[in-house]
Parts: sequence; structure tokens; C-alpha cells
Amino acid sequence: MRKVPLSRFLIDEQWQSQALPAELRLLVEVVARAVKAISLNVNKGALAGVLGDAGTGNVQGEAQKKLDVIANEILLEANEWGGHLAAMASEEMEKPHPIPHRMPKGEYLLLFDPLDGSSNIDVNIAVGTIFSVLRCPEGVDPADEKAFLQSGTRQVCAGFAVYGPSTVLVLTVGRGVHSFTLDREVGSFILTREDIRIPEDTKEFAINASNQRFWEPPVQRYVSELIAGKTGPRGKDFNMRWVASMVADVYRILMRGGVFLYPRDTKDPSKPGRLRLLYEANPMAMIVEQAGGAATTGRERILDVVPTALHQRVAVILGSRNEVEVAARHHG
Ligand code: AHG
Ligand code: MN
Ligand code: MN
Repeated sequence: MRKVPLSRFLIDEQWQSQALPAELRLLVEVVARAVKAISLNVNKGALAGVLGDAGTGNVQGEAQKKLDVIANEILLEANEWGGHLAAMASEEMEKPHPIPHRMPKGEYLLLFDPLDGSSNIDVNIAVGTIFSVLRCPEGVDPADEKAFLQSGTRQVCAGFAVYGPSTVLVLTVGRGVHSFTLDREVGSFILTREDIRIPEDTKEFAINASNQRFWEPPVQRYVSELIAGKTGPRGKDFNMRWVASMVADVYRILMRGGVFLYPRDTKDPSKPGRLRLLYEANPMAMIVEQAGGAATTGRERILDVVPTALHQRVAVILGSRNEVEVAARHHG
């Protein structure tokens, strides 16, 4: 089998397909380098003293893990001096991070969830990194959060890494979805799945069932029909999986189909959903759509949601196209 490293793949996209501007290619290379560094830290775990709480909180009111902070620092540091960015925004930082004056600047905005699945860090279950790339609108100060408030359809690139039994990087620049596995000895990402397609139908769903009493009626009804199995209205048995790391749940769906739900609920009325639109929902929605799947809030396509705040949360239903449609139909 011919081994295609990420760098080679990106250069082919740039020159042969004319689908990737040079600056964006460099940006992806830098993010991949940061992901490698995060992967090393995650892998060393207790040996590197990176497990446990940081003792700080983030803007979302969540306690930060040491690895949340380390991953955030690695991404900031790696991307600051590349010359391809105007600013960055992170789930772990209240305000956008402009590129310092002394550094060269570019036209892109990078948004990330540096460490997804934080509750799994200390128990040795897969975690990951999610990122999204936008263009900085002309005449808008990149340090102003308004620059980032663009709908998901404007993303020029999205990706995520899963630090699991192997480290995998999933990427789209708007021409299908491809995955790369980290070869640790060589230190490079190698193309291992090209043009991933999500099966349209599925018998597997993912939801945190402990929130059931807080779900809205359409979700209550939809999930109870899945659980009813063969004897219910769906006429087939469904299996359930919930890793509690979105990266791992979405990766499974890319590999074998499924539907993932983190719906709006009444647990905390100030939060319309658990997941963040700009760092989690939008990049995952772009990837899932590029792989032939669908992503909705239940009421509208995620990529069409116009953001009003940097850390905005949103309901997420994504995965196998036909199943997402059934769930959306329940919302009327
Ligand atoms: P993060 O660690 O970045 O805060 O994100 C965790 C997210 C997502 O990865 C996962 O699907 C979900 O939160 C898990 O939520 P529960 O703990 O409610 O299951
Ligand atoms: Mn997350
Ligand atoms: Mn996170």
C-alpha cells in the first residue's frame, strides 16, 4: 500500500485540485503539529504529571483539567507565529486571542475545543481536539468576537483528532472527509481512510440517557421509539453507545454510522443545549455533511445557525442521514 503522509495529501489538494490555498495548507500543517504534541502529552498521562484538575475554571463555568490548559497552550503557541492567522478563539478562553503585534498576520480565524471529553481524561478513555477555520471578514477587528460570529456554512476547513488506541486526525477542506493515523515512529500522519461516507441508515444511537427527564417531548418520543425496538413503531432493534467524548462518538459514526444526540433540555434553562456551536457543533456538522450525513438542531440545519455569542450552545442531532431526518421530523 502506498503511504501518503498528510503533507503530501495537502500539497496534492493545493496543486492538483486547486482546492486549497497555500496559507490554509500551512495552517492545517501547524494544527496537525500541535495535535501531535497534545497526543504525546495525553499518551504519557500520569508519567508526565498531566492528569487531574488544573484548579481553575473557564468562562463556561466548568472546572478545567490540567490537559485542557496544556492543550490550549500548545495550540496557541504553535499557531501564533505561522503568519496565516488573524486571531484564534478557544472554548477555554473568554475572549478571542489576537495575533501579537510583533508576529506576521494572515487572513484566517482558528477556533478550537483544545481538549474534548475532559471527563474522560483521568480514566484513560479516548479524548480529542476539535477545530474550525473561518476567513476574517474585511474591515472587522479580529480581536472583536464579532469577527467569529459567522454561520457554519462559512467554514473553509474543519477537523478533529481522537487520542484513542491510535491517534487519528479527521479532516475536511470542503472536498470530502479523510482520516490520517499518526505513525509515532516516523512522527507523521498517514492517510488511512479516503472519502469517508456515513451509511445512510443505522441501528445505533448515542445519547446521555441520564438526562431523559429533562428532554423535550419530541426527543422523549423519538428515543422511546428506538428503545421499543422490533415490537415498536420502528420495527427494528437499536443498540446504544455513549462515550461522553464527542470526538469518539462522531468518529464511530463516521466509521459505521449511527445517530448522536445532545438535545436541548430543561436542566439549565440558560443553556440551549450542552455543546458549543462554534467549537463543537459547527466543525462536526461540516465533517458529517461532507461525509454524506446530516446535522440539525432538530429545528434547523446546524450550519445555518447564525451565532450571536462566541460561547453559544446549541442542540445537536447528527449522523446517518435517514435517521437524523426521522429525529428532525419528530420536532415537527
Ligand atoms: P468538553 O470536554 O470539551 O467540555 O466536551 C464534552 C462534551 C462532549 O465531548 C460530550 O459529548 C459531552 O460533553 C458529554 O457530556 P455528558 O458528560 O453530559 O455526557
Ligand atoms: Mn468538547
Ligand atoms: Mn473541551
